[in-house]
Amino acid sequence: LKVAALIPAAGFGTRLGQGPKAYLDLGGLSLLARSVAALAPHVDEVVVALPEGFALPEGIPARVVIGGATRQASVLALLRATDAEVVLIHDAARPFLPPEVIRTVRTAAAETGAATAALPVADTLVRGQGQASALWGELTARENLWAVQTPQGFRRELLLSAHLEAEQGGIQATDDAGLVARLGLPVVLIPGDARLFKVTTPSDLALARALVVVWDA
Ligand code: CTP
Ligand code: MG
Repeated sequence: LKVAALIPAAGFGTRLGQGPKAYLDLGGLSLLARSVAALAPHVDEVVVALPEGFALPEGIPARVVIGGATRQASVLALLRATDAEVVLIHDAARPFLPPEVIRTVRTAAAETGAATAALPVADTLVRGQGQASALWGELTARENLWAVQTPQGFRRELLLSAHLEAEQGGIQATDDAGLVARLGLPVVLIPGDARLFKVTTPSDLALARALVVVWDA
């Protein structure tokens, strides 16, 4: 069974404001280098989507495709660049990847067709309302709620058809499992890890810089 790791890394990191996050240094290694190194031992090939005009840093064992204007478009470009039967999609912006999560997502994806890492929500959840959403609105029960992470694993044909359906219907999603679930197909939730958080804002980067010291120790 051929397995590929597909890494969307073609974003510009607007919220963080330091350029494409894939190139950010974290304890001597870029975010992209960390994701590739974590995934490579578990797959037959790694393909990375980069912004147009950006090159893969030396020494990273991966192929490159040019990403699209959205994450979804970047993933579609990645799906078209491999013939693997199973694909693991992982955001370059999530540099801390426990091997156990990779193994479990991979196995579940091969067996069932679609699986994602996700974390049970621990905080109380409330919808903001009013100006700037700064007022306490409707409370949402947190029972059975999961925060969706990556890696997400799929049979490639299945995810490709979900993407083509979404493209046809003008649907934009921020993750791939959601596109599969939209078709009424089951997606297995695999217990993820708090350390799989996405580096999105400056405070996330501060957390990552603190965590990398123990991660690498
Ligand atoms: N991504 C991508 N192609 C895009 C947009 C995003 O491959 N057109 C990737 C990012 O590189 C990142 C992952 O999708 O690894 C998650 O996206 P996000 O955290 O939103 O990163 P950015 O889009 O770069 O950040 P921002 O939204 O703040 O600009
Ligand atoms: Mg983005």
